[in-house]
Amino acid sequence: MIFKTLMLLVLTMMIVTNKSIAVMEKQTYIIYMDKTKIKSSVHSQDITKPWYESVLDSITQASSKLEQEDGEEEQEQEQTSSNPDLLYVYETTMFGFSAHLSPTHLKSLNQIEGFLTAIPDELLHLHTTYTPHFLGLSKGKGLWSETNLASDVIIGVLDSGIWPEHMSFRDTGMSPVPSRWKGVCENGTQFSSENCNKKLIGARAFFKGYEKVTGKINETVDYRSPRDSEGHGTHTSSTAAGALVDNASLFGLAKGRAAGMRYTSRIAAYKVCWPLGCANSDIIAAADKAIADGVDILSLSLGGSAKPYYSDSIAIASFGAIAKGVLVSCSAGNSGPSKSNVGNVAPWLMTVAASYTDRSLLTKVKLGNGQVFKGSSLYKGKPTKQLLVVYGKSAANNGSERLAQYCIRGSLDPKLVKGKMVACERGISGRTQKGEEVKMAGGLGMILLNTESQGEELFADAHILPATSIGFSASKIIRSYVLTDKNPTASISFIGTVYGDSNAPTMAAFSSRGPSLVGPDVIKPDLTAPGVNILAAWPPKTSPSSLKSDKRSVLFNIVSGTSMSCPHVTGIAALLKSKHKDWSPAAIKSALMTTAYILNHRGRPIGDISSNRTSEMANPFALGSGHVDPERASNPGLVYDINTQDYLSYLCSLNYTSSQIALLSGGGNHTCSSDGGLQPGDLNYPSFAVLFSSRSTKKASVTYKRLVTNVGYPKSNYAVKVEKPMGVSVTVEPKNLNFGKVGEKLSYNVTFVAGGRARASGSSSFGSLIWVSWHYTVRSPIAVTWQ
Ligand SMILES: *[C@@H]1O[C@H](CO)[C@@H](O)[C@H](O)[C@H]1NC(C)=O
Ligand SMILES: *[C@@H]1O[C@H](CO)[C@@H](O)[C@H](O)[C@H]1NC(C)=O
Ligand SMILES: *[C@@H]1O[C@H](CO)[C@@H](O)[C@H](O)[C@H]1NC(C)=O
Ligand SMILES: *[C@@H]1O[C@H](CO)[C@@H](O)[C@H](O)[C@H]1NC(C)=O
Ligand SMILES: *[C@@H]1O[C@H](CO)[C@@H](O)[C@H](O)[C@H]1NC(C)=O
Ligand SMILES: *[C@@H]1O[C@H](CO)[C@@H](O)[C@H](O)[C@H]1NC(C)=O
Ligand SMILES: *[C@@H]1O[C@H](CO)[C@@H](O)[C@H](O)[C@H]1NC(C)=O
Ligand SMILES: *[C@@H]1O[C@H](CO)[C@@H](O)[C@H](O)[C@H]1NC(C)=O
Repeated sequence: MIFKTLMLLVLTMMIVTNKSIAVMEKQTYIIYMDKTKIKSSVHSQDITKPWYESVLDSITQASSKLEQEDGEEEQEQEQTSSNPDLLYVYETTMFGFSAHLSPTHLKSLNQIEGFLTAIPDELLHLHTTYTPHFLGLSKGKGLWSETNLASDVIIGVLDSGIWPEHMSFRDTGMSPVPSRWKGVCENGTQFSSENCNKKLIGARAFFKGYEKVTGKINETVDYRSPRDSEGHGTHTSSTAAGALVDNASLFGLAKGRAAGMRYTSRIAAYKVCWPLGCANSDIIAAADKAIADGVDILSLSLGGSAKPYYSDSIAIASFGAIAKGVLVSCSAGNSGPSKSNVGNVAPWLMTVAASYTDRSLLTKVKLGNGQVFKGSSLYKGKPTKQLLVVYGKSAANNGSERLAQYCIRGSLDPKLVKGKMVACERGISGRTQKGEEVKMAGGLGMILLNTESQGEELFADAHILPATSIGFSASKIIRSYVLTDKNPTASISFIGTVYGDSNAPTMAAFSSRGPSLVGPDVIKPDLTAPGVNILAAWPPKTSPSSLKSDKRSVLFNIVSGTSMSCPHVTGIAALLKSKHKDWSPAAIKSALMTTAYILNHRGRPIGDISSNRTSEMANPFALGSGHVDPERASNPGLVYDINTQDYLSYLCSLNYTSSQIALLSGGGNHTCSSDGGLQPGDLNYPSFAVLFSSRSTKKASVTYKRLVTNVGYPKSNYAVKVEKPMGVSVTVEPKNLNFGKVGEKLSYNVTFVAGGRARASGSSSFGSLIWVSWHYTVRSPIAVTWQ
């Protein structure tokens, strides 16, 4: 163990010269190491764990030496608190480890050969908002034909765990687990290997990072195991790959056959999210294990705000996954509709936005003056009577007028609320929680009001009293009616499931929007999928409203969020993967994006519910390339492929330093070419983001290269068609691509020219570039932004 001795020496010297460092509070760090440097010292792949342990041993010894020299009295106690604690070793998707370290330990690490950086751990969050869903594939046909479904695809879901006994995870008729599978079913609270079967083939729980933040998980109130107490992971897993279940519904709403997008896939559940969030160190450990276990696709309905790729754990873990041919599908986030809040933006990720389907769960609100409005709810029951309506001041405890507008816990006065309908603003507290407050104060109904930025978004929630959400325009009228009428009254009736909204699909207001702050040279999100009012599996021990006071038990729940749209795309990607076994993650992404549609069921551009309804169309920063179309994606004609080397060149073009690049590539020695010709826009992405200076009054021009691969008919002739963004000219060279065989690759250049006048900073204009052949249209959106 020569390297150990050497290291200790280095550390001791370092610590001695840093006597003044006090023992301070410890924190979890994710430590990135350069793989090539570790290997050059260790000369064997299998001893990385002992190597890291020896690193930490050295730190411990060095630290205790420091304490002795400082004459610390409480030796024993100090020593315990000084032990660095190795949480995980990462070796599949990235190289390094996570550990609980004091500032002294952290400083010491700097001296270790191969050390790249240490990033403090933090909690990320699930991308959920309550609402509903739907999408169609046809049994026995196309992607859902027997042959396609027979092939084995393993979907790994990083989420809040799973409810293994649920009928959506039954393994009836499934073939034995493939021998390549290396995963396991871990023991824990109310969970053992007995809980896995041929459908749910693996389940692991990751909580070391989480417990460092919150303390030990209380096993009497939560499962310290892969078992799902939240509902989210059960819902997303079944959306991606749940088995067919007939007659599924929530209180009879949205009744039908529940089916995962790729309902014959195996599922491996990696529980990384707990009641207060999901720790980065746990997420990376799970992704790392999932790839080593042998998953084919990863689904992550979680995230934080966008960060440079080299400091974004999901980007780092997924770079390693992509390099091993595993596609990673992520939710875009629920921070819309304001601009530039999209998360999970690395170009190697599939970033999924959320939209409405043509199904709604309708209510009708009737005011005392005869006006009637449509709303949405999952409450199932008789209509309310025409009740007096109170709002804000007229419902408030003394001094709580403002909180009472939002129906925050304890803000309502039972004397004023009893027997009445309460109008509540959305925000601050959960929507079903507001209903709980109204019910506790004796209210008989609730109307949830939208602000302007929430637009016409209608969340359907499993309220515990008669309640409905209402869009912005109706909310405005109701507010003013309630504040001006002497005896304002309202009633709610519950109409139930209604299909056939011809404006569908429509972008959800909550769906996070681009442009990406981190990589504006790539359009994000990539595409949209159903994410509103999605019916899927739910743990029977978790109430549909997620309220503790709610004792209802359901097997299916209706929920909304980009968390729900992401697993749709995960499952669809799994369908494509079984059809096209040789396609890379980027090729599957390209197929999904270039075949996405942009017109709604009436043939008009897909709208955005956050704007004044039909008046405004959704742009690529809301819906990306469009709405996912599984069957068309299975036969796209052309694909824009990207390999690991291309992504590395892209990182070079962002002027990342070699150590930043090493963080993503797992170390090594990637040398950026110095010819200087590289620009981010040259990444072979299936869409175009173009940036111009808003101040320049001169003409500006930029040329991007692309390379397309023929995956359609051998002899295919394509001609280009351009829809110009306003104020920008677009020239494509050549204008025709003539392929002679399958697999042939042809390149083209596209030049964007703008200028002549200054533009508002942050303004954008949109267009598209389409390759058209006899059989195919291969569409890429163009987004030009003046910054
Ligand atoms: C899991 O629990 C079972 C029964 O309690 C035990 O036999 C088995 O060894 C445990 N496995 C692990 C990996 O701890
Ligand atoms: C765990 O939760 C239960 C129920 O809330 C509580 O009675 C118990 O004290 C908790 N245990 C710990 C160690 O906090
Ligand atoms: C479907 O479920 C409902 C209850 O939700 C039940 O009454 C009905 O009998 C079921 N139908 C079938 C065909 O299983
Ligand atoms: C409300 O509280 C204020 C002081 O906090 C008090 O002066 C006033 O009398 C109270 N009004 C009622 C109706 O209780
Ligand atoms: C909706 O329309 C009104 C009036 O036309 C306008 O003032 C408002 O800004 C619009 N809101 C949005 C979100 O577009
Ligand atoms: C990278 O550096 C080059 C040369 O300094 C510069 O022209 C280019 O704009 C930079 N690219 C980015 C993405 O910052
Ligand atoms: C890195 O690559 C360069 C050029 O390819 C080479 O000269 C150098 O020795 C390499 N360094 C290491 C540590 O492998
Ligand atoms: C694209 O432009 C580059 C640089 O001007 C040129 O070398 C290349 O031949 C062009 N490719 C095509 C297909 O026109």
